[in-house]
Amino acid sequence: MTRARITGTGSAVPDRVLSNYDLEKLVDTTDEWITTRTGIKERRIAAEGEYTSTFATQAAQRALEMAGVSPDELDLIILATITTDFPFPATACIVQSNLGALKAAAFDVSAACSGFVYGLSLADNAIRSGSARKVLVIGAEVLSRIIDWTDRNTCLLFGDGAGAVVLEADGGERGILSTHLHSDGSYWELLYQPGCGNRNPSVQKTLDERKIFLMMQGNEVFKLAVRAMEDAALEALEKNGFTPADIDIFIPHQANRRIIDAIGKRLGLDGDRVYVNLDRFGNTSAASIPLALDEANRAGRIKENDIVLFDAFGGGLTWGSALLRW
Ligand code: UT7
Repeated sequence: MTRARITGTGSAVPDRVLSNYDLEKLVDTTDEWITTRTGIKERRIAAEGEYTSTFATQAAQRALEMAGVSPDELDLIILATITTDFPFPATACIVQSNLGALKAAAFDVSAACSGFVYGLSLADNAIRSGSARKVLVIGAEVLSRIIDWTDRNTCLLFGDGAGAVVLEADGGERGILSTHLHSDGSYWELLYQPGCGNRNPSVQKTLDERKIFLMMQGNEVFKLAVRAMEDAALEALEKNGFTPADIDIFIPHQANRRIIDAIGKRLGLDGDRVYVNLDRFGNTSAASIPLALDEANRAGRIKENDIVLFDAFGGGLTWGSALLRW
């Protein structure tokens, strides 16, 4: 049986750090409120001249280097993002050009914060069906450019960065065991960007009405996230005949410490098995799981044959999980 196994991980973030204390100077908030309500202490913000493709390319190069795969061996490049460099072409094509991966097919996936798990599922299917052998999946965002820096409800939550994995076909027991994807479009207005699409095409009007910025009904999203992420985690475990006790490391989407703690508690996972880095990066949307994965991997937190669970939730609404034997 062919499985898709992660053979390399990489990540990249901007150098500029924006702390909660910096935000106190921008909007009516405090470090204390942000820390207790979200768990975030600081986030990274892209500089002028840095784009989603910049961090996606750097993360991909690091993942390829770890895997020992050269760009021209790639069959497929899947980039999960909601902050593309341009409306078109796909930012994946820009990354493909930067890497020199000219044999690959390249496209973007738009599933907001669940984008990486969606991309991973597509890669898994491509590898298991035999249509690809080496696939690059990236989650990358420059959310700071669609944030309303006068809105205290959203501006403190998000950050910029990228994470990437190289997947290769493998005949053994290790690799992706299953992926599980879900959406409920009836909630699309809870978290979206009103401008920059063809419903609000006028750039000037969109700017005047502040429609270029991300909008979120945080409270509603919070409640739905906890339930959906718990369901997706249990679905992955049940499908493989596992229980939460079998999980060696749980890497959830990093949106809010209280969401992560609530799911950890519902699954009965102790703190050691739950990987959290949102204190330093905030919510990086599609980048959050691969960014956390790369940190955990490089820190030696994941051992061969460990059971790893990814769990995502985001705008759409979209959610999903992936269970892997490392
Ligand atoms: O990645 C995709 C998924 N996204 C998420 O999962 C995000 C989910 N949502 C959340 O993480 C949380 O809902 C937020 C962090 C966005 C907000 O936390 P909350 O505990 O839901 O706060 P709230 O909006 O209910 O506001 C509580 C209070 C309000 O004051 P009153 O009405 O109780 O007097 C707000 O006005 O906190 C006030 N508040 C603030 N105070 C200081 C709201 N924002 C701030 C702020 N600083 N930045």
